[in-house]
Amino acid sequence: MRVLVIGSGGREHALAWKIAQSPLLTKLFVAPGNGGTEAIAENLRIDITDHAAVIAAAKAQNIDFVVVGPDAQVVAGLGDDIRAAGFACFCPSKEAGQLEGSKSFTKALCDEFDIPTAGYARFEDEASALAHIYTHGAPIVIKADGLAAGKGVTVAMSVEEAEEAIIDCFSGAFGASGAAVVIEEFMEGEEVSLFVLCDGETLLPLTTAQDHKRAFDGDTGPNTGGMGAYSPAPVMTEEQYDFTMKHIVEPTARGLAQRGTPYQGVLYAGLMLTDQGPKLVEYNARFGDPETQVMMMRMESDILPLLHATATGMLKGHDVTWKDAYALTVIMATKGYPGDYGKGSEISGADGLDTDDLTVFHAGTSRDGGRLLANGGRVLNVTALGNSVKEAQDRAYRGVDAVDWPEGFSRRDIGWREIARERT
Ligand code: AMP
Ligand code: GLY
Repeated sequence: MRVLVIGSGGREHALAWKIAQSPLLTKLFVAPGNGGTEAIAENLRIDITDHAAVIAAAKAQNIDFVVVGPDAQVVAGLGDDIRAAGFACFCPSKEAGQLEGSKSFTKALCDEFDIPTAGYARFEDEASALAHIYTHGAPIVIKADGLAAGKGVTVAMSVEEAEEAIIDCFSGAFGASGAAVVIEEFMEGEEVSLFVLCDGETLLPLTTAQDHKRAFDGDTGPNTGGMGAYSPAPVMTEEQYDFTMKHIVEPTARGLAQRGTPYQGVLYAGLMLTDQGPKLVEYNARFGDPETQVMMMRMESDILPLLHATATGMLKGHDVTWKDAYALTVIMATKGYPGDYGKGSEISGADGLDTDDLTVFHAGTSRDGGRLLANGGRVLNVTALGNSVKEAQDRAYRGVDAVDWPEGFSRRDIGWREIARERT
């Protein structure tokens, strides 16, 4: 099978790395890829926002199967265009991708199918949004109703903070994504992510992971795309998992199928484990970044038939197996991220670190001859396996410490919640 992976992040490097191990693979391409994917695949330097260019590349390279990584491409309907051109493609339809692309779409689905989530209201003007928070008080959560690269959410601990977030949204801080706001009830608990493949009908649960969204240690600083993750996340009990499948994931898949817009792809459920049971925080309509890095490290099964079966409605009868180990990844980011940062700084010591228990996935990197350069916010994902989260963490940080990159930084506490539980 000739496979094309779309994207250039750590998630896509991890997917490509795992697909590259498949005996079914004959040739692998990544578009546009990064300094890590070029070692295991052929990078195609095309503009992935140009759907015609992606289709032309798929034709030129005789591709059998396209795997779309990033949310922006899912929401833009790249999968529909690729399928219309006659290719098999792992990517939900634009309709079903609204699970991620529109918070109000997901909230309406939760209402219709009784899926537990935070209470909410949607506003298209500033005055009514402000009136709502004056009535309800804080803590309260303000969200731009659209894709805002993870930055459109304010968990406001005070009414003043909520006011500011609403005014920001309506003054265009998130462009068209801020034309409406969703205001949610604050949910208290620990967050966990569950990943489930869905071919439109059949569900195949993958595994759990826990992300670290804030930039700095102790979960402080601004929200980012994710600074590190581990998998599995034992904080989710068997009972909570069963509840989530029965009351959240299954009704979602069934509901979308009933509406005539079946979901084919990976359902990434962001959950809050509250005192009243798991509640949906949000859905993403693609793999997580950096959760994919830890999942691919742990996955024992061949991923290629799983993705292909998901994309073609043939998931029934498939199974997935995992290494009996934890995986943990630490993001090395350019200083300044998630705000402004420089590009082009040199990284040394990152090559040659990979072992059976450690893989350095690349995100924003490029190569200039023998030199490895940083060209993005999140740059390297040092990912390790261990018999405990602590062991995986120790191994990952030994990898981080072997990288010489003065312009980079990372959190030093990835996995802290679970490590604290392991100690007791
Ligand atoms: P989202 O982009 O919807 O995932 O929100 C980003 C982050 O904000 C989530 O990962 C949570 O940490 C937090 N968050 C979102 N909605 C709520 C809520 N209703 N209650 C508490 N925290 C929330
Ligand atoms: N790690 C968060 C995300 O992929 O959205």
